[in-house]
Amino acid sequence: MAEMEVRILQQIIEASTAGELEHVRIKYLGRKGEISALLKNIGNLAPEQRPAFGAAVNALRNKVSEMIASRKDELDREALEQSLLRDAIDVSLPGEYFEVGGLHPLTKSLREITSILSGMGFTVYESRETETDEMNFVKLNIAQGHPARDMQETFYLTETTLMRTHTSPGQIRGMLALEGRLPVRFIVPGRVYRRDPTDASHHPVFFQVEGLAIDVDVTFKQLRGVISTLMNRFFGQDVRIRLRPSYFPFTEPSCEVDISCVFCRGEGCSVCGGSGYLEVAGAGMVHPQVLLNGGYDPDKVSGFAFGFGLDRLAMLKYGIDDIRLLYGNDKRFLSQFRGL
Ligand code: PHE
Repeated sequence: MAEMEVRILQQIIEASTAGELEHVRIKYLGRKGEISALLKNIGNLAPEQRPAFGAAVNALRNKVSEMIASRKDELDREALEQSLLRDAIDVSLPGEYFEVGGLHPLTKSLREITSILSGMGFTVYESRETETDEMNFVKLNIAQGHPARDMQETFYLTETTLMRTHTSPGQIRGMLALEGRLPVRFIVPGRVYRRDPTDASHHPVFFQVEGLAIDVDVTFKQLRGVISTLMNRFFGQDVRIRLRPSYFPFTEPSCEVDISCVFCRGEGCSVCGGSGYLEVAGAGMVHPQVLLNGGYDPDKVSGFAFGFGLDRLAMLKYGIDDIRLLYGNDKRFLSQFRGL
């Protein structure tokens, strides 16, 4: 039997294709194969020799089938390697799985707002996130010691530079870049930084979308028109806007922009605190001194400006109840906006 084993193993090793190997398998392990034939002869042996003989045949059978299986693996691998070498593309291989990505709700909202406002003639001015105290405050009528600084005292980098607390310094930089040309009509989207607490509605980093329009005879009525058109396109036709008198050092007159609550449609609910309205922006007519600071003559031109909180808009649009979700990078959250 040892001689037979050597012979079989030799043939297994010499089999160079799966077909040849299969022949070897049938020749020895098949129902009419040589190993099976050995077992049939067991009756010719003396009874006391039978158990040992049976065990030896079984051991041989196991060994042979293991050898065949491993030779089969080897031949399969060789065949695959060769076919990969032959054909650059193996269409029989399972495909590689790519997870489908999606846009962040802030990105989606900003793109939509940019598209709506560009339809009304606004271009995009990318300003900067690090600012000088001069641009972030002074040129916007917020002098050293002005109480309006208190709300925004923030991340200073040096005595005179800081992370911008709002996108409004982009008004000044954008105006200066245009060197007095008319009309001025651009938005400044981007991150802003404030020393705010972190809770469901506050985060020390958030986004604003600033808007600025300057020309001969720009009116408050136009401001209202642009804002209500933007809100209606973004939230739907049934949303109403309300302008409330307010104060900003760089606009005069100034207002807060409220929209009728998108959850209760103005009836009053927990999201709007029963008021039926939600605050989404600050706005107003550009202060004459700010026009001067940007190189425009307040006796010849007028302008309006607005600053929307982008996070707020995105949260209202997509029903997100905690601003921290926008910054957590949790795929379980983000994947919900795929394809929306
Ligand atoms: N910059 C103001 C803020 O951050 C918003 C604003 C922008 C108000 C433009 C009026 C005009 O609160």
